[in-house]
Amino acid sequence: MSSQSNRVVFHDSIERKEHRPCQVNDVQNICTVLEKIKNREEINLLLSRFPKPFEQTIPTIPLSIHQKYCMCVSWRKIMDNKEVTGVRLFINLFNEKPDLKNLFRFGNLSDEDLEKSDHLKKHGSIVISAIDSVLCLLEDNHELNEVLSKLTEKHVKIPGFKEGWFWMIESPFLKTVQETMGDDYTSEQEYLFRIMIHSVLQVMNDICHLQMKEKDKKEFRS
Ligand code: HEM
Repeated sequence: MSSQSNRVVFHDSIERKEHRPCQVNDVQNICTVLEKIKNREEINLLLSRFPKPFEQTIPTIPLSIHQKYCMCVSWRKIMDNKEVTGVRLFINLFNEKPDLKNLFRFGNLSDEDLEKSDHLKKHGSIVISAIDSVLCLLEDNHELNEVLSKLTEKHVKIPGFKEGWFWMIESPFLKTVQETMGDDYTSEQEYLFRIMIHSVLQVMNDICHLQMKEKDKKEFRS
């Protein structure tokens, strides 16, 4: 797949109703209409969230290089608290989706024991590091797809893992980032992480769909 077509897939994931990337002009047109009903401050806030016409966007997700840089600077706080953030991520995931506990080797532990579990600390750190690798590759479409394909494949091999399940981590992830960032967390940062995790999960989900189909075909043949 060419890098251009990959780019459309990534953008499509955000603008799911559109079959082309969202253009800066589209946003400006929408804002011109909105201007009639909203005040100038709100319009400026909305516009500031989209790459400016002269800003270069990164090839994988609809963020400018500057926005990606800001997100990576914030992410350092998560990496400095990798273990505790990883544990929190799973506690938040299990609070929202208790049934998922059964999938994990540490799933039989009570909430209290989960917090102390070395197994969960290790697994949580591995997952946060995996997201860190993804962030480092956001400007390399090809390499990013390779890494996400391998990561998705590992999940597809897990007995009982279902298509669509990657979405379940979206809201616990955002909640966890907010908890670790604490009072430093701004709505702008929240926006950047939301776009990033949504785009990444969309790609993992799309890859998962293809890999599951392949898996079903192989099982049908044998
Ligand atoms: C951003 C999303 C996610 C990332 C980056 C991620 C990352 C990882 C990584 C790095 C591993 C270790 C793979 C290995 O054995 O080398 C793993 C294992 C696993 N993941 Fe994920 N994961 C994600 C989402 C999910 C979700 C949503 C679920 C459940 C619905 C899930 C279920 C599992 C399970 C069951 C294992 C095996 C755990 C074990 O061995 O006890 N993952 N994940």
